[in-house]
Amino acid sequence: MQPVQVIFDCDPGKDDAFAIFLALACPQALSVVALTAVEGNVPVAYTTSNARRIVEAAGRPEIPVYRGCARPMLRPLLRKEQVQGAGGLDASGLPPQADPERPKHAISALIGLLEGAAEPLTIAAIGPLTNIAMLLIARPDLAGRIAHLYVMGGSEGPGNMGPYAEYNILIDPHAAASVFAMDVPATLVTLDHTRDLRPPMAWFESMAGFGAPGRALAAMWRAQPIALYDVAVTGLMLWPELFETQPCSVAVETCDTERMGQTRIARGEGPCRIVTGLDAETFYRRIVEAMACYAAPSSN
Ligand code: RIB
Ligand code: CA
Repeated sequence: MQPVQVIFDCDPGKDDAFAIFLALACPQALSVVALTAVEGNVPVAYTTSNARRIVEAAGRPEIPVYRGCARPMLRPLLRKEQVQGAGGLDASGLPPQADPERPKHAISALIGLLEGAAEPLTIAAIGPLTNIAMLLIARPDLAGRIAHLYVMGGSEGPGNMGPYAEYNILIDPHAAASVFAMDVPATLVTLDHTRDLRPPMAWFESMAGFGAPGRALAAMWRAQPIALYDVAVTGLMLWPELFETQPCSVAVETCDTERMGQTRIARGEGPCRIVTGLDAETFYRRIVEAMACYAAPSSN
């Protein structure tokens, strides 16, 4: 079985870092083609640099990282989610990036990668959807070159940025509405089944000896624990048997200021799918098993 060729569109962010470290720990299942960074948890200069720091810490400096959109399509820049810290990977201890940033913009890189790939590519979108929307607005024909779009975002129940909206969607609700209106096979991983993915600190400490990635994760969660929001997207790609999904349609509120960014999800039919359940305990166990690859090789 060939590994799935995947591009992470991300806004690192500690849970983004975890999602990418986990993907890179499973090269037999996922081949990470590139990272594209977007304005989200922190400014795009930081999300881009953080993405470089992540691939270098994972021993994969050859994976290209491209800087993407610096602001949402229409809305003003929102205050950053303080949970991630001012730099996005505060307390990680990850060294500054070694390789310089590539000059090509993420949209150009996505166009080139989708055009040039022998088979359609999978995209894991774990930040605001600005890059993906602008890509598909510029080149709607490339929707057919996306094998599957996994999105961490939205919620059926309450949001995490006020009562209605989830962070990724609220930062750029117009981008989200645009993407969900496109003809792209998409699966939504929402707050409803990720907000409680909060394993105990001992679980993170059990990975602290797993090289720079394990050390960084333990340090970041020791400083400020958050749910494994984005990690669930990687888990769904790696171990779909642990997740339940249903067909759905998604509408994004882009007019009512109070409900701005709310996702109205109708289950049962529609072009998308939504995660409706997961086996968290098995998920946690498999993560530790996968992340052990970063531990120093035994000396014997
Ligand atoms: O609401 C959770 C999402 O917002 C995650 O992607 C997290 O990284 C932040 O971007
Ligand atoms: Ca994110």
